[in-house]
Amino acid sequence: MKLAVVGTGYVGLVAGTCLAESGNDVICVDIDAKKIDLLNSGKVPIYEPGLEEMVRRNAEDQRLSFTTDLDLAVKSSEIVFIAVGTPQGPTGHANLEYVKATAQGIAKALDGFKIIVTKSTVPVGTADQIKQWIKAETSHPFAVASNPEFMKEGAAVEDFMKPDRVVLGGDNPEALAKLRELYDPFVRTGNPILTMDSRSAEMSKYAANAMLATKISFINEVARLCEEMHADIGEVRRAISLDRRIGPHFIFPGVGYGGSCFPKDTRAMIGMGGERQEMVLLKAVEQVNERQKRWLFDKVEGHFGDKLAGLTFAVWGLAFKPRTDDMRDAPAINLIESLLGAGARVQAFDPEAMEEARKIFGDRIQYTHRNYDALHGAAALLIVTEWNEFRRPDFARVKNLLTEPIIFDGRNIYDPADLGKLGFTYYSIGRRHG
Ligand SMILES: NC(=O)c1ccc[n+]([C@@H]2O[C@H](COP(=O)([O-])OP(=O)(O)OC[C@H]3O[C@@H](n4cnc5c(N)ncnc54)[C@H](O)[C@@H]3O)[C@@H](O)[C@H]2O)c1
Repeated sequence: MKLAVVGTGYVGLVAGTCLAESGNDVICVDIDAKKIDLLNSGKVPIYEPGLEEMVRRNAEDQRLSFTTDLDLAVKSSEIVFIAVGTPQGPTGHANLEYVKATAQGIAKALDGFKIIVTKSTVPVGTADQIKQWIKAETSHPFAVASNPEFMKEGAAVEDFMKPDRVVLGGDNPEALAKLRELYDPFVRTGNPILTMDSRSAEMSKYAANAMLATKISFINEVARLCEEMHADIGEVRRAISLDRRIGPHFIFPGVGYGGSCFPKDTRAMIGMGGERQEMVLLKAVEQVNERQKRWLFDKVEGHFGDKLAGLTFAVWGLAFKPRTDDMRDAPAINLIESLLGAGARVQAFDPEAMEEARKIFGDRIQYTHRNYDALHGAAALLIVTEWNEFRRPDFARVKNLLTEPIIFDGRNIYDPADLGKLGFTYYSIGRRHG
């Protein structure tokens, strides 16, 4: 099929590339000319495992191309996906200005029947709104469908190629049948393609993210109570995860959720409820998360008291989670700003997010090429993101490089007993330390 994907960010680039991988001709569009130039030169502007090689291969095979020309892309396609950002607006609601501009641009380019599909996460009712925006600009026939995206950054290619489910919303049977045909190659192992009305499809995406955010805040709250009551969250997690109604996924304590989706989508859902349907649980989920994002700094302050000024801290991990370079709403930002605010210095390392970090902190912190370099002369090591390469470091070397052997572990990646034996003062979340 001939497809256009508008918005070449984490979602649009992965979706466009994976759709090309299954044999479709895909034109990816973005208003960011620098991004398009970079992609046309064979480089990928984001870090996503497996993506660069797939982009290069499909571009070489001429199934995948990149342009800033929306008009040309729409005219060459039967289906146009909207995958632009829907960031948080000033009142917490999703900001739909990019979606609206895209819908209007698509409308102006229409030259016959096309299917316009929303892949961006949009508030319930947006598909109806998009129909109105398009109708106001064109007399050509069109159909609007909703196709929320459930991929996870860090495993986005895998998730798109083998989705747990595909959700399609809309009321045009021809459009839904065409989309089903498009997605068939991705569900060959039998995972379902669900069709429903567009409002339910739009709500499914928010409900999924809200549930995941709730699981994280839940386990973080239990971890804090464990700490207070001298129980061990590791043991508790093991015990509850064996209950099939609970399961083992997404119940690891940490420094709070971040990223480009959970924070803004829970706030957008709270905004959708408004005063008529107050989202009491989600408000609490957010409150727990905000408190959890301060956990590391509170522990550091608890240890060093008001003597942080002039001290240097090593931070391992900046991205909001491993296997991505995305730092949107990352807990590392809160931590580092608090440390800097207290007069401390920060030496930071992340395997992929250094460039993104530079955009946020500029030269207010030191960036190191290797994780060990961040430790030189630091009063403690702070672990924010659980990259695999941090899991088994050379602890003797870590001890040697730090001025004091202290580790604050925001992801519970080490064993408290082992670190105790090695002579470290070790802080982790909700666990028994000896
Ligand atoms: N990042 C994720 O893991 C993820 C997962 C599922 C759903 N989503 C949702 O998908 C949407 C996109 O997210 P993202 O992370 O890819 O965002 P992103 O910020 O990485 O990418 C958005 C892209 O859209 C481009 N853009 C903006 N306005 C445009 C226009 N008028 N024409 C063409 N391009 C335009 C931007 O330049 C940018 O490159 C959001 O609604 C998000 O909530 C994201």
